[in-house]
Amino acid sequence: MDHFIFTVLLLSGVSSCAGLQYHFVNKSMNWTEAQSYCRGNYTDLATVEDTEDMKMMVDITVQQGYKGLVWIGLYYGDTWRWSIQDNMSYSHADTGFRNWSQKPIYYFGIWFIGFFLEGCVMINTGGDWFIGRCWNKYPTVCYQENNAGGIYVINSTRRTWTEAQIYCRQHYTDLAIIRNSEDNQKVTRQLTNNTWIGLHRNWVWSDQSSSTYRNWTAGRPLNNKASCPVAAIGQGGTWMGTDCSARFPFICYQDNLVLVRENKTWKEALLYCRQNHVDLVSVTSEKVQRWVREMAGEASTPYVWMGLRYSYTLNFWLWVSGEFSCYQNWSTGNGTGWYRDEGGRRVWSTGAQQAGGEQKWVSLSEDIELNFICMK
Ligand SMILES: *[C@@H]1O[C@H](CO)[C@@H](O)[C@H](O)[C@H]1NC(C)=O
Ligand SMILES: *[C@@H]1O[C@H](CO)[C@@H](O)[C@H](O)[C@H]1NC(C)=O
Ligand SMILES: *[C@@H]1O[C@H](CO)[C@@H](O)[C@H](O)[C@H]1NC(C)=O
Ligand SMILES: *[C@@H]1O[C@H](CO)[C@@H](O)[C@H](O)[C@H]1NC(C)=O
Repeated sequence: MDHFIFTVLLLSGVSSCAGLQYHFVNKSMNWTEAQSYCRGNYTDLATVEDTEDMKMMVDITVQQGYKGLVWIGLYYGDTWRWSIQDNMSYSHADTGFRNWSQKPIYYFGIWFIGFFLEGCVMINTGGDWFIGRCWNKYPTVCYQENNAGGIYVINSTRRTWTEAQIYCRQHYTDLAIIRNSEDNQKVTRQLTNNTWIGLHRNWVWSDQSSSTYRNWTAGRPLNNKASCPVAAIGQGGTWMGTDCSARFPFICYQDNLVLVRENKTWKEALLYCRQNHVDLVSVTSEKVQRWVREMAGEASTPYVWMGLRYSYTLNFWLWVSGEFSCYQNWSTGNGTGWYRDEGGRRVWSTGAQQAGGEQKWVSLSEDIELNFICMK
C-alpha cells in the first residue's frame, strides 16, 4: 500500500492549489455585462473573503500592468430578504408581511422612519419591527420548520446578526421568518428584549457568497446610487461605491473544485480526477476547507473522498497532490492512521470529509464507494 502512495506522489507532476483564481479582464463593461462575461467564461465576478484575497487580486492585476478601477462581484441588493430564502427550497417563502414600527429611529446622525442602505431587522416586545445595525449584538429568534407551521426558539445570548444566522442554521432551520400576524404573535409572546429576526437588506455577492469582508475607502457609502463598488487597484484595492452603469475592466474568478456525484472507491476516485481533471482535492487551509464543506453538503453519500492517505512507514498523513500543510480538521477519534475493522484487524486508511453534521474529516477504508471532490 505504501508503494502505491509513492507511485501516486510521483505521478502527480502538476502542482495546483485548490481554491479560486482571479482573472483580470481588460474590457470596459458595465457591472451587469461584466457579470455575464465572468459567468460565461469563468465562475463569476470576483468574491473577496479576506485581506489575503484582496492582496492576491491586486497583485494579479498589477502584474497585468493595470492600476485603475475594477468591478468586483459585490452589489447592493435593494430589497428586504429573509435569511431562509438563501436556501433554494424557500426562495418563494416571502409573503410580503411586514410589521414596521411607526416610530422613527436615529441612525448615522439622521432620523429615519423607514429605510436606509444596509440593515438587519429586530422585533421588540410589542411585536414591532425595527432596523438595526447588523454588527450590534442582540438575542436571537430561530425558526424550526415542522408540519404545523414551525416553531420559534429564542436564544438570549447576544450575537451580531450574522452570528445569529450561523447559530440558527447550525441548530435549527434558520433565523426566524415571520409570514403573518399569527407568526408575529407566536414570536412576540416569548420575547423579553429586542431580538434579531431573519429579515435583512445588505450588499450581496454575485455568486451568493456569505462573505462579510468589506474594504471601503472611507466609511461606507450611504448613497443609493452608489450601488456597485469598484476596487482601486492602485490604492491597495480599497472600494468606492459607484453607479453600476459605469464602465470599467473587471475581475472574474475561477473556482477549481468540482464535486463528482459518482460512487467510487478511493483509488478509482483518484484515477478519475487525474484522468478528467487534475487531482483529488487537498484541503490545506481553513479557506479551502470552507469550499470543500459547502460542496460536500451537496453530495449524495454521507462522506466524500479527499486526496488524503496515511503512509504507515512514514507514520504520516499525505496529500496525494504532494502539498504539505499542518492544517487538519479531524473529527474526534479519527486521523490516527488506522482503525480496526469488524474482524478486529488494523486497517490503514484514507481521509474523507463528512457531508453533513459537524462536517469534519474521518478516516475510512479505501474500499468504500463515495462521491469525491477533484481539483480542476
Ligand atoms: C467569453 O469570452 C469571449 C472572448 O473574450 C467573448 O467573446 C464572449 O462574449 C465571452 N462570453 C460571455 C458569455 O460573455
Ligand atoms: C487594455 O486595453 C486597452 C484598449 O484595448 C489598451 O490600450 C491597454 O493597453 C490595455 N491595458 C492592459 C493593462 O492590458
Ligand atoms: C434547504 O432546505 C431543505 C428543506 O428543508 C433541506 O433539506 C436542505 O438541507 C436545506 N439546504 C441547506 C443548504 O440548508
Ligand atoms: C449594461 O448595459 C446593458 C446594455 O449594454 C444594459 O442592458 C444594462 O441595463 C446595463 N446595466 C446597467 C447596470 O446599467
